[in-house]
Amino acid sequence: MLTKVHHVGIVVKSADEALKFYRDALGLAVTADRVIEDQGVRGILLQIGQSEIELLEPTRDDTGVARFLASRGEGMHHICFESDDVDRELEAARAKGIQLIDEKPRPGLAGMICFLHPKSNHGVLVEFATPLPGGH
Ligand code: CO
Repeated sequence: MLTKVHHVGIVVKSADEALKFYRDALGLAVTADRVIEDQGVRGILLQIGQSEIELLEPTRDDTGVARFLASRGEGMHHICFESDDVDRELEAARAKGIQLIDEKPRPGLAGMICFLHPKSNHGVLVEFATPLPGGH
């Protein structure tokens, strides 16, 4: 079951620059900040109530996030819905003929995650995430 908007993903040129706005000006607390090597991004989560903002800075040029930044510039990238069971969510989407990006869930900043293709979602890249117990 989908339970809430977990986070909104925003692609930025420089996470350090973006933190000056989201952390310093808005006062949001950083709950995670790490480089995810296989995705080629530095990801930062900032908490806002029960949801989060996810900043994504590409760390190399051959990734989807890097191509997004090159072609569209900084801005909103995806919305993530939290689920209590990301595997079941992905199977349900597959069964309904929704175009998938990930064939199976994988580890991400928000827990176990997967992406659905924006072509099936009215132009919006949709992520499902099931947070790991006790963390992000
Ligand atoms: Co995300």
